[in-house]
Amino acid sequence: MTRIVGIGGTLRAGSSSERLARAVLECCGAQGADTMMFDGPFLAQLPHYDPGAPTRCEAEQALVDAVRGADAIVVASPGYHGGISGLVKNAIDLLEETARDDRPYFDGRPVGLIVSAAGWQATGVTLAALRGVTHAMRGWPTPLGIAINSVEQRPFDSDGALVDAAVAAQIEALSEQLLRPLGLSRAA
Ligand SMILES: Cc1cc2nc3c(=O)[nH]c(=O)nc-3n(C[C@H](O)[C@H](O)[C@H](O)COP(=O)(O)O)c2cc1C
Repeated sequence: MTRIVGIGGTLRAGSSSERLARAVLECCGAQGADTMMFDGPFLAQLPHYDPGAPTRCEAEQALVDAVRGADAIVVASPGYHGGISGLVKNAIDLLEETARDDRPYFDGRPVGLIVSAAGWQATGVTLAALRGVTHAMRGWPTPLGIAINSVEQRPFDSDGALVDAAVAAQIEALSEQLLRPLGLSRAA
């Protein structure tokens, strides 16, 4: 079974970055992938990453194990003060636990990147930062990253339904770019 793991979102109810990540996972699920989302409330359970800690808590272990078993990853961050949120970055830093694996970090896997920010400048710099992180983690950022301006765009209605056709098309395209290298694409 192809496994796609999503990491991200915020602690805000109705987090748009979380909703976008879930929409990508749902799209991948519709093509037969098994998906798992680690959202803002989950990431908030993680302690600040301590490389020297002798043990890992259950939440830390669950995230590390899920990424170890993933065939592709989705990372979704808000633009906070011009960059990746601390919540999301702490989760990524925890993946240092995979450094000595045969397949460390995001090694060799497609990584879909999503940003939501209140202005275009933060969407751009945060997406570029996530691409830099993905390269450092030996992953392959998909050609398309999704960046929304949450002041100018409202891709979801009050019930959380995706109502923006252009954003829906981006979600389809990003999902396709995640699945194609795994042999699960419609076009394959
Ligand atoms: C602490 C904090 C810092 C933020 N910094 C920026 C920023 O530098 N630039 C920007 O455009 N938006 C900024 N925002 C707005 C968020 O990026 C924006 O509301 C985003 O859509 C939130 O994502 P969410 O819907 O997943 O919660 C900030 C919001 C917070 C709470």
